[in-house]
Amino acid sequence: GGSSEATPLALAFASIRGSRTDAVVVPEGYVAQVLIPWGTPLDNSVGAWSADRRVTPEYQAASVGMNHDGMHNFALSEESASREFIMALNNEYIDQSALWAPQGGPTNAKEGARPADEARTEINAHGVTLVKLKLGSDGQWNDERGSRYNRRLTSATPIELAGPVRGSDYVVTAYSTNGTRTRGTNNNCANGFTPWGTYLTCEENWPNVFTKASGRYKDDDRLGVPTGRSRYGWETAQGGTNGEFARFDATPSAASASGDYRNEPRTFGYVVEIDPYGNTASVSTETAALKRTHIGRFRHEGCWPGKVIEGEPVVFYTGHDSRNEYIYKFVSKAKWDPQDANRPGQDYDRLAIGAKYLDEGTLYVARFNDDGSGDWLPLTPDATTRDGRPLWQALELANERDLAGVIINTCDAADFMGATPMDRPEWGTVDPSSGEVYMTLTNNSKRTAEGTAATYTNGGSDVEELGVGYATAPVNGPNPRPDNEGGQVIRWHEPSPAGTSFEWEIFVFGAAESDADNYSGLTELNQFASPDGLWYDDRGDGKGILWIETDNGYDKVTDYTNDQVLAVVPGSVSRGPGDKAVIDAADQAQLKRFAVGPNGCEVTGIFATPDKTSLFINIQHPGNWPANPGASVQDATVATSGEVRPRASTVVIRKRDGGEIAV
Ligand code: FEO
Ligand code: CA
Ligand code: CA
Ligand code: CA
Repeated sequence: GGSSEATPLALAFASIRGSRTDAVVVPEGYVAQVLIPWGTPLDNSVGAWSADRRVTPEYQAASVGMNHDGMHNFALSEESASREFIMALNNEYIDQSALWAPQGGPTNAKEGARPADEARTEINAHGVTLVKLKLGSDGQWNDERGSRYNRRLTSATPIELAGPVRGSDYVVTAYSTNGTRTRGTNNNCANGFTPWGTYLTCEENWPNVFTKASGRYKDDDRLGVPTGRSRYGWETAQGGTNGEFARFDATPSAASASGDYRNEPRTFGYVVEIDPYGNTASVSTETAALKRTHIGRFRHEGCWPGKVIEGEPVVFYTGHDSRNEYIYKFVSKAKWDPQDANRPGQDYDRLAIGAKYLDEGTLYVARFNDDGSGDWLPLTPDATTRDGRPLWQALELANERDLAGVIINTCDAADFMGATPMDRPEWGTVDPSSGEVYMTLTNNSKRTAEGTAATYTNGGSDVEELGVGYATAPVNGPNPRPDNEGGQVIRWHEPSPAGTSFEWEIFVFGAAESDADNYSGLTELNQFASPDGLWYDDRGDGKGILWIETDNGYDKVTDYTNDQVLAVVPGSVSRGPGDKAVIDAADQAQLKRFAVGPNGCEVTGIFATPDKTSLFINIQHPGNWPANPGASVQDATVATSGEVRPRASTVVIRKRDGGEIAV
């Protein structure tokens, strides 16, 4: 607001100290409100939440899902955008002990058959929640129960496949013998949005809901589909029709793929596009959602649009969150037409616009060179691998037209092209005026000085043990610290977003064991580790605030603070990989701790209203919070006393005087 070109943005709050309490702690002059905790009913069909509520499949399908992660706001009009909007919210995974607290825990969690209604409830607790939110005249936000926009997509919702994989033999199942549909989206971690007004939700740790004992594909191993019982054992539930539970067991059981679910895992691992306004014109399902397969198949963290330029392709950045996996970019074939920009609240076919920009284009993977340059390597069947073969031959595909085969095997394709293995890419964000891209690299326990040989035989179910392109990767320019517990934020700049070259630098390094490795000179007032959530908050005139959220288990930091939200005004950083003191010392005071979450949580998901007076974050997997979950309005700075049934929640942070956040 209102600052001139000559005045640098300044963070007008005092960095807060670390905190280890069951509260959301915010700076002096700010207040935090708990909103839409897990289980909040979306309509009046299922009654009210209570702490001893026994959650049924029907209740969960009509209420807010579990473990809030990425989220985005969709305006109903330009004029009302800061007072009301549709919230699209990912529900990444479940906390079984909280879900089944009234009965003392899940039934047969580790062995034996799961009861069908427990499996259905857990399936319905995953996915995406759409809910209308409104700001009251009292300065408190509320959800609008019964709004026409309120709905759920779960891990059972019919969703169509779109792009190169649609209709291919790779995705034929007993449910969809022509390979055009699947059921559900799950483990939706981070997110994104499009310039045409749709939501992108990204499938991350989905391999773990499947099992495949035999008949395994290379990609089952590469991505880590378990060989034994799946994470929640849904495949063991009895009853149901049309493969309701059988589909989670991908072991071949029939003569051909059209008789079983051997290909079911190949219908997951995508970026899913949702029309938050609910127009279903483009889809045969009732869900207004499509899996956009051209953006690649792996454990997507999120998917973020690059700088939007009239007459240029539209680009999206996405990362694979596993140790030593890669960063990708999708470049549309179609050039951006400003007539396709979102018209808030109007009812028209946004998914047809999505097809134009997301179903045809080129997927690239990033190579970060040690000299500070970088290259985008195309993942097309005719691309030449680093050992000089056509990519389709290296992948042992049937022919040079098999783009679907490249997509199904995205990670192997990236290996063959010579991509740079990263320290677990999590969130990205783009400065919309400069086009600079930021991405968190959260940590990496499989980074060593020398590296060890690649292995492609990982069939385990432990998420933390994946990153199967390399057993351990050697340190490299953008990932210079072995056994990296602190993580870092990388930034790159492309002369043209649709081009194939870029320049990169490390924006800031997280905490380190020794002072010598504390490259960014962090102090107790801004020390952090395992950066995860990230958002460039554009404040106009080419100025903005980069918000960083953490999901940390590094004791160097957990010893004195829970997970947190930091703000930094991106200033001058010294360029070049050889210079590790990344943020100039004069700018260190501009990296400040803004909020700290309750015990046991991670802080994730972030956006602000256009007027910058309300900042929304999510508290995921809290251990014993919030204390007063029945209230729609709560000062979250009040700490919990006693035991509560924990509920992941959105938290809205506002200034007590209603002014602009952070400045
Ligand atoms: Fe679900 Fe990579 O965080
Ligand atoms: Ca994350
Ligand atoms: Ca994380
Ligand atoms: Ca998480």
